[in-house]
Amino acid sequence: MAEDGRPAEVPLILVSNRGPVGFGRGADGARTMDRSGGGLVTALWGLVAHSPALWIAAAIGDEDARVAEEAGGGEFALPGVGMDTRGRFVRIDPDTYHKYYNVIANPMLWFIQHYLWDLSNAPDIRREELDAWEHGYLVANRRFADEISAALEDHPGAVVMMHDYHLYTAPAVVRERHPGVFLHFFVHIPWAQPDTWRVLPQHIREAVASGLLACDIVAFHTRRYARNFLMTCEDLLDLRVDYEAMTVNWRGRDVLVRHYPISVNAERFEELARSREVAEEEGPILRRRRRHLIVRVDRTDLSKNILRGFKAFDTFLDRHPEFLEQITFFAMLQPSRQDVDEYVEYVAKIRDLVSHINTKHGNTDWMPIDLRFESNLAKAVAAYKHYDVMMVNSIFDGMNLVAKEAALVNERDGVLILSKNIGAYEEIGHFALGVNPFDIEIQARALYEALNMPRDERRDRARHIREIIRENDVAKWLDHQMRDIAEVREARAAAPAKAPKGRRRATRRAGSAPGT
Ligand code: G6P
Repeated sequence: MAEDGRPAEVPLILVSNRGPVGFGRGADGARTMDRSGGGLVTALWGLVAHSPALWIAAAIGDEDARVAEEAGGGEFALPGVGMDTRGRFVRIDPDTYHKYYNVIANPMLWFIQHYLWDLSNAPDIRREELDAWEHGYLVANRRFADEISAALEDHPGAVVMMHDYHLYTAPAVVRERHPGVFLHFFVHIPWAQPDTWRVLPQHIREAVASGLLACDIVAFHTRRYARNFLMTCEDLLDLRVDYEAMTVNWRGRDVLVRHYPISVNAERFEELARSREVAEEEGPILRRRRRHLIVRVDRTDLSKNILRGFKAFDTFLDRHPEFLEQITFFAMLQPSRQDVDEYVEYVAKIRDLVSHINTKHGNTDWMPIDLRFESNLAKAVAAYKHYDVMMVNSIFDGMNLVAKEAALVNERDGVLILSKNIGAYEEIGHFALGVNPFDIEIQARALYEALNMPRDERRDRARHIREIIRENDVAKWLDHQMRDIAEVREARAAAPAKAPKGRRRATRRAGSAPGT
């Protein structure tokens, strides 16, 4: 029974560190509820639009904690979120949360999975990191498991869908308490190749892998990440894996390893692009634009490769002075994870490089790079509509929804420069200009090629990309997962003793995900 007395009827329990909304207080002292940002939350909003769900997330701010308190630690309604979404907060004390989020999840796991460590220098694994694992990550994950367990008491039979690298060890705890529950896990970032995991002490990397293996399905954005996960199980845990069926045997059960490329809600995003709030932002962009416009929109994350993107622009201007004063590089960067030292340093490096390039090439009348540190969706969409070139050159990136959003609503047949190391490249790379994100020469040349591409070719490429994105939109991402979950559950219910074999057959058929 839910805290407000409502009969509890949810088929899905979603679990992620960041919830769909963050609570705060407005200037008038009234409670505010703001939609959270980030790729994961955006995708899950799409999911709850289709199905009633309970969404369990960490209470991050003070007001979140107050909401949790008022709900007596239980469920509360989330009016305006999805078709019928309820919330439940996990309360974690600040010291534990800091160790879990700022020491282990970001940077340790995030850096490993995006290949960001400069291994000759970092990371140093010392007592602080071991303590953060033991008293931060594991404790926070146990707290999540406690709330999932409590929610399962209220909603027996619900499917639990857990999300991302913050929660790797929680599934094993839930499995121990609820052996029959259906556990689905989606990893939204790349899964690194096996040796990369050897940075972590053995007990930590084994806890990460075995936590995930407590699930029935472990899902990624691309086939490459799914294979990397299977290889990790084989190399680091010495497990038997089946690369054809994409399964790994763990304690007598076959765990399915699948890939489902995430996408945007195409219809809704196109609607947003036509909205008045976006139109209001277009005016200033159009007034300021020179003949050509390059755009990038990113969090200030090291994985986004922002510095090399600007270095490539610098090289391009050196080589092609005919573009001086004819072009602007509009970069909207959202400050991110400013409690982590590496992220603070990164923002400083971006500022320095941009000021160097602007001084070198610019003049009193023209600033080559228009750098904004802000998060403003309407302004970002206005820029998406008018770019000639969109730069998405991440070092590695799970999917990258910015590339899809931007290409979907662009009105100038703009060209997409796309890193070959991002999930979206598998789907739309053929119609973009693919680049090696480390190769500044290639990126400078891609800028030149994009800006000189014949009109017909631009139009064809842009049209193909739009068609793919409309076809493989977020509803397909969800449908394929729900279908696989239903098939596995049915196969199990029909023949519990033979479940592993039946499951393997059923899911081989179901394993082809959109866009692959
Ligand atoms: C990005 C990633 C997600 C991740 C999120 C966490 O959006 O694509 O996979 O969950 O960052 O961001 P946060 O701001 O909550 O730390």
